[in-house]
Amino acid sequence: MRILVTGGAGFIGSHTVDLLLQQGHTVRILDSLAPPVHSDGKMPAYVPREAEFLLGDVRDRAAWERALRDIDAVFHFAAYQDYLTDFSKFFHVNTVGTALLYEIIVENKLPIRKIVVASSQATYGEGKYACARDGVQYPPLRSLEQLMRREWEPRCPVCGGAMQPLDTDESRVNPHNQYAMSKYTQEMIALNLGRRYDIPSVALRFSIVQGPRQSFRNAYSGVLRIFTTRLLFDRAPICYEDGQQLRDYVSVHDVARANVLVLQDPRADGQAFNVGSGHAITVIEYARLIARALGKPIAPEMPGQFRFGDTRHIVSDIAKLRALGWEPRVSFEEIVAEYVAWARAQPDVRDYYADAEREMLARGTIRKAQ
Ligand SMILES: NC(=O)c1ccc[n+]([C@@H]2O[C@H](COP(=O)([O-])OP(=O)(O)OC[C@H]3O[C@@H](n4cnc5c(N)ncnc54)[C@H](O)[C@@H]3O)[C@@H](O)[C@H]2O)c1
Repeated sequence: MRILVTGGAGFIGSHTVDLLLQQGHTVRILDSLAPPVHSDGKMPAYVPREAEFLLGDVRDRAAWERALRDIDAVFHFAAYQDYLTDFSKFFHVNTVGTALLYEIIVENKLPIRKIVVASSQATYGEGKYACARDGVQYPPLRSLEQLMRREWEPRCPVCGGAMQPLDTDESRVNPHNQYAMSKYTQEMIALNLGRRYDIPSVALRFSIVQGPRQSFRNAYSGVLRIFTTRLLFDRAPICYEDGQQLRDYVSVHDVARANVLVLQDPRADGQAFNVGSGHAITVIEYARLIARALGKPIAPEMPGQFRFGDTRHIVSDIAKLRALGWEPRVSFEEIVAEYVAWARAQPDVRDYYADAEREMLARGTIRKAQ
């Protein structure tokens, strides 16, 4: 097939491009080489020469028109991801960009056979919990007052009692922040317009994806990068809250296989699927795993900071994609070992997160509890 990969110069996109080329597909990339991920505006060396590269922005109609010429299928990964308060940019890039894709296909009657959009576990917000008294609950964002009091666990919205986190399936979303809302609106465009105009479309809700090539400069790229860079400079990893948050880290290789599977399997059409590891780990356990892999006996610190808007626990239920024959293969230990080896080999490692953190502190995204 002739496949367009938007965001193909980025982390998940480039691994997917590699797998598609290995399988004999013809690949075209549309990417704007956007900062901060590509701070020098240069094409990363890992982008394969066999892929055709178009420099362009998914907010630009002409860029899409060029990119969609003679294409059979599209992976749409280009996105704006951050914690900043430029709300409109999330919707311009992630939502309007996706609407443009469908608009151009419908207006020009392009024979696109499949579109896969990259959605996110963030669409679930706090996800699914069980209250012993009131059953399954989808709690709202924890309040600032609650977090300032260091009451980290969400309370039952009905009785105010304690709850147990459950693995979150695809049935209900609860997006809390600008990024999550933009990703959910992207999904709705893809699945609803796809169904209406007979363009087979799939939305994949990735949990926290980890692996080599994950930019050091992407504030959204998760703790593996942040903890690794801190430890490489002999600084302690800083865990927000009490470090007991449950998370679900999935290897980029497992994600690339999930992408290719839904491209090929018509049973996936018109649906959203979770793509996660199938396992939960606390943030503090993960920090210890990374320190061990780096051979740095530095204990994580918990200075009582929190990031307002973060979810307490979020682990995806992956039964739906498993039913199509996909299975995550890479363990947390293997994810960490592969990333650490890659990070050590990078010439430009710096504690980039320190800058992002200063900005988030200044803007009140990161706060300190009483
Ligand atoms: N990495 C994760 O943990 C994760 C989790 C859930 C969802 N996702 C989604 O997966 C997709 C890929 O994420 P990633 O981690 O590979 O990100 P990334 O930042 O590494 O790659 C994104 C690429 O998109 C390009 N891009 C950004 N804005 C663009 C624009 N306006 N026009 C054209 N290109 C643009 C960037 O230059 C970059 O190469 C995104 O849609 C993201 O929302 C990622």
